[in-house]
Amino acid sequence: MKLNNQSIIQGTYLPPGDKSISHRIVILTGQAIGKSEISNLLEGEDVINTINAMKLFGVNIKKKGDKYIIFGLPAGGLFQPNKTIDFGNSGTGIRLISGLVSSNNIYAKLIGDHSLSQRPMKRVTKHLSRIGAVIKLKKGSYPPISLKGTGKAIPLTFDITIPSAQIKSAIMLSALNTIGTVKIKEKNSTRDHTENMLKSMGYNIKVRENTKYRFIEMRNNKEIKTINYNVPGDPSSAAFLITAACLKPNSNLIVKNILFNKTRIGFIKTLRSMGGNIKVIRKRKIHNEFIADLLIKQRKNLNPTILESFEIPLQIDEIPILSIAASFANGLTVFKGLKELTFKESNRLELIHENLKKIGVKTKIKNFDLYIYGNYDLKKGAAVIKHDNDHRILMSFFIANMICKKNNIIKDKSCVKTSYPTFFKDISEFSN
Ligand code: S3P
Repeated sequence: MKLNNQSIIQGTYLPPGDKSISHRIVILTGQAIGKSEISNLLEGEDVINTINAMKLFGVNIKKKGDKYIIFGLPAGGLFQPNKTIDFGNSGTGIRLISGLVSSNNIYAKLIGDHSLSQRPMKRVTKHLSRIGAVIKLKKGSYPPISLKGTGKAIPLTFDITIPSAQIKSAIMLSALNTIGTVKIKEKNSTRDHTENMLKSMGYNIKVRENTKYRFIEMRNNKEIKTINYNVPGDPSSAAFLITAACLKPNSNLIVKNILFNKTRIGFIKTLRSMGGNIKVIRKRKIHNEFIADLLIKQRKNLNPTILESFEIPLQIDEIPILSIAASFANGLTVFKGLKELTFKESNRLELIHENLKKIGVKTKIKNFDLYIYGNYDLKKGAAVIKHDNDHRILMSFFIANMICKKNNIIKDKSCVKTSYPTFFKDISEFSN
């Protein structure tokens, strides 16, 4: 593969606020009595929808300068919303809020866009029904979710077998208004921001883990305290420019204030194992989350790699951009066990495969394993990328075009607003 080395990725880059943390800080400060101040909140459409949902439950949220000021209600104190709540494209929003509502004595109807209306909800609602919530789904599986919460949630032990932070967090949010001890056993650990945030907010939560499981115990005998929180940069959004900087010859990129939680930086480990030169230049811990500054220097081409299934959950959102990295690495890369990728904003496994073929990369799927034969000559361009309005698919193939200056066509780029509204601005600023 001939890389375009006329332009490089360079500069000092501050990624936008982390999406997972932004959802959670809005929800949890909305359940802390008093005033919390949030800065660097991601103003993507997904998070805006969560803000609107919390407002419909009676939480007072105002923007003052570049900060959000949130006056929370006590756990169990949500008001009856006076209309249907629309979560747009956001699986995190609809699933986390389902958990929150399930232990409040209110009724809510939760809907989403075309993509969200085809995503599985039973994986969450089957747990929430056990505490006493009454839930109906379209065709028994999909949104709209019609949810009558219970004011007397039963404290239970939950066993989660699908690796999903959304399932875990939905149950944890239901526990905020459950009297007694709620226990969760998670197979494969997933992103743990809900746990970290609750600890920072003085809640009674215990977490322990071994190599196989993570155990969480929650008791709602202590209130959630207000907090002032500066949302760190989103590694999943930064992954696009970081990968581009690992690929474009002679790039030099400094990334500031990026969330460096071990459950989120699997892709950095993967890029390093492919020969990517990524150095941590400063690391600190704030509110139980690690945050770092990074330096990326490109001096040689990437090598292929193999990811085993157990490594996937901690980099599930970065598989699309890692597929682009693999396309430019000399040899065969295999990403194993990608079933969960078929349940995202689109069937990402199919779309990655289809688009890689379109741009001239040899690839195959076998039993949810993705094979990518890197370093094949890309076609001349002009393939129309099929993104089905999936933000991460669109951004990944935009980077592919940019790396070797191809003019594959990407129509309707508006879906970047779900997670990364400033994507194109950042690309033009750091790609010279
Ligand atoms: C998220 C969890 C993951 C991830 C999503 C954000 C979260 O989804 O893909 O982008 O903030 O909890 P799953 O829980 O479905 O794996």
